[in-house]
This record gives sequence, structure tokens and C-alpha cells, in this order.
Amino acid sequence: MKRIVILGSTGSVGTSALDVAAQRPDDFKIVGLSAHRNVRLLAEQIRRFAPLAVSVSDAPAAHELAAAVDLAGIDVFSGRQSLERLATLPEADIVLVATAGTVSLLPTLAAIDAGKRIALANKEPLVMAGSIIMQRLRRSRAELIPVDSEHSAIFQCLQGQPRAALRRIYLTGSGGPFRTLPAKKFAAVTPAMALRHPKWSMGRKISIDSATLMNKGLELIEACCLFDVAEDQVEIIVHPEAIVHSMVEFCDGAVMAHLGITDMRLPIQYAFDYPCRRGNHLPPLGRTAMAQLTMSAPDLKRFPCLRIARDVARQAGTAGCVMNAANEVAVAAFLSGTIKFTDIPRIIGKIVNRHAYAAHPSLARILRLDAWARREAEQLC
Ligand SMILES: NC(=O)c1ccc[n+]([C@@H]2O[C@H](COP(=O)([O-])OP(=O)(O)OC[C@H]3O[C@@H](n4cnc5c(N)ncnc54)[C@H](OP(=O)(O)O)[C@@H]3O)[C@@H](O)[C@H]2O)c1
Repeated sequence: MKRIVILGSTGSVGTSALDVAAQRPDDFKIVGLSAHRNVRLLAEQIRRFAPLAVSVSDAPAAHELAAAVDLAGIDVFSGRQSLERLATLPEADIVLVATAGTVSLLPTLAAIDAGKRIALANKEPLVMAGSIIMQRLRRSRAELIPVDSEHSAIFQCLQGQPRAALRRIYLTGSGGPFRTLPAKKFAAVTPAMALRHPKWSMGRKISIDSATLMNKGLELIEACCLFDVAEDQVEIIVHPEAIVHSMVEFCDGAVMAHLGITDMRLPIQYAFDYPCRRGNHLPPLGRTAMAQLTMSAPDLKRFPCLRIARDVARQAGTAGCVMNAANEVAVAAFLSGTIKFTDIPRIIGKIVNRHAYAAHPSLARILRLDAWARREAEQLC
């Protein structure tokens, strides 16, 4: 029986993870759940999964939760460090990190120090502080299993292969909702248009990142950290069918690909079961889905976020943290109607260029720069 904490249980990945756990009650026990402010859904999840502890972002949400559901015998954390407390719950074996944005950086580090298995869906902490996370991992008995579908695919392709045999990663992406949109129409893109992803059903922030292709840029940096490769060893491929979740090329020229349906329950289950592989009720991929697989290079002119992210991946150091913070603010401003779709890369590019770069920043410096980049981006928005 594996005991699981889910950070971000009310989100798209979090609810998929609960579905995986609900299918196999003899194998998985949910011991911790967290939401930001979606108290109604969290209350339903508490009734259904009876966790030992839960977390919400602030005291008003905790009061609302107490009014909505019987919390007898359940620890309720709120406010500062509530996610850290949940992530280090002594009863937990696995911590699924599925919050949106950078809020889970410190909880992820806390879970590493506590020696947990971390199933990581949330890519922003790695973009912000990848080298610190990987360094801490090397010093602890914790393990990190990627849940982002592309990185899970790469991780799976690498099983049983010597690290030195890895030559190149082909990171695939569907191309998002504007794959074929002419450049002159980008300025008129609305949040409703950008939220309509052709292949995946996801939270709002990652959906906008998928429309700008910043998501692929974040994933490029994530891949460099997780698999210890240089930026130029990762090639991004636009693959609209979203069947090949990524590929790995080895030193002898052999390429291994991971194919599957577009359902996050697959990589979540893999991270929970690793190193085993177990059956499930998901539909098989089927031959017809594989009949036509097309692949092309991304258009960096129409998707400048991807160009910025590649420069940032090359620079490493503090650049990822600043890009990530500026992107989060710009995406929120676009969603609230304050800026245009085409302003997102413009704002991010300006802030990355004007920041005080450091190659090997401390965690404190990263946190200061994150706050600085958010203030600058808010002013520009
Ligand atoms: N969705 C996918 O298919 C997918 C695939 C690969 C990777 N990812 C990555 O997984 C992460 C989660 O994505 P998602 O699509 O599941 O996001 P989502 O649907 O927006 O869910 C985010 C979750 O985080 C919680 N949350 C948001 N802000 C918070 C804060 N300030 N403090 C504490 N909790 C907070 C939300 O709580 P409330 O519900 O209460 O707001 C919710 O439970 C992202 O980093 C994304 O890039 C997602």
C-alpha cells in the first residue's frame, strides 16, 4: 500500500491522480490533499478519500472548509508553510506535486529533505531553481519521478540504459491551438481562444503556456535539469497528433519513442507504480491512432516565447527564474484582459534582458529575483 499526498488535488492533474487512486484502493491510500481556495471540491474529496491532513491557502478558506465538511481527526493546515507541512507528512510515501505555478518550490525542497518519492507534474519549480533541486536530490534518499507526459516518456525510454548512452532528446508538442494561425492574427487572440487546447484538457495557466509555446520552453529547461543534458541536446518537434510523447536517441543512433493516449492518468500511474507497471481501465491507443504521425520544426517567429526559453536554457543560472516569474504575471494579465496575447513575449523578453544575471545563485537570491521580476512585470502589464 502506497500512501500519497497530493499538492493541488482540486486541479486538472490532481483530480486525475485521485481517479488513479480510486481505481486501486488496495494499492493507494490518499493521506493528504490540498487546494488553494476551491473549498467546495476539496470538501467533496475529503468525504470520499478521508485523508489524514489537508491544506488550504488562508484562514478564511480553512473556516469555509470547516463549515462545509466534518474535519474530525483531520489536521488542517493553512497559511505560510501549509504546503511544506503537508509535503513532509510522516505518513506519506509519495508526494504528487500538482499545484500551478511556483508556489510548490519550497514544499518540493521540503519533500526532498524528508526523503519522499516526489511525483513531479509542476514544472515551474525546476525552471526556477532546477540546479538547487537536483543538488538537494543527490544529497537525499528522495527520488523524483517526472509526471509531465513528455518527461515521463523520456524517463521511461531511459530505463535500463546507461546515462552515457544518451545522445539527444526529441521533445514533442502538439503545437497548441494556434499551430496554423497566421502571424497577423496573433494580436487579436482572446483568452477564450487561447484556452481551447486541441488535445489536452488542462488548467488555465498551462493552457495559455501551451498557446504561446512557452510550455514547451519550460519543458525544455525541465528536460535539461531532469536528464542532465545541454540545451542543444534537446530538439523540439511539433507533432499535432500528440501520440508520440517524446523520443530519445542513443549513441548508436537508435531512437526510442514512447507512444500513448493523451491522458495524464498514464504518467501519474507510472510515477505511483514505478518501477512496476500495472494494468488500468484506460482505452488502448489502437492502430488507427498511429496511422499518421507528422512531425515538423516549431516556428520561432510566430512563437517568440520558445526562442526566449531556448536562450534562457542556454544561459541557465538566474535566467529561468526571471523568465518564469515574468511569464506567470504576463499570463495572469492576459487572462484578466489587461494585455494582448502578443504582449506576453514582449514583457518576458524585456525583463529577462534587464535582470542582474548570476550563474550559480543561492536559493535566497532566486527568491529575491522572483519577487523582483514579478514587480517589474506587473509594472509593464
Ligand atoms: N493539466 C495537465 O494536463 C498538465 C500536464 C503536465 C504538467 N502539468 C503541470 O502540472 C501543474 C498543475 O497543472 P494543472 O493543469 O493541474 O493546474 P490547475 O488545474 O490550475 O490546478 C492547480 C492546482 O493548484 C492549486 N493552486 C493554485 N494556486 C495555488 C496557490 N497559490 N497555493 C496553493 N495551491 C494553489 C489549485 O487549487 P484551487 O483549485 O483551489 O485553485 C489546484 O488544486 C502545472 O505546473 C502544470 O504545468 C499539467
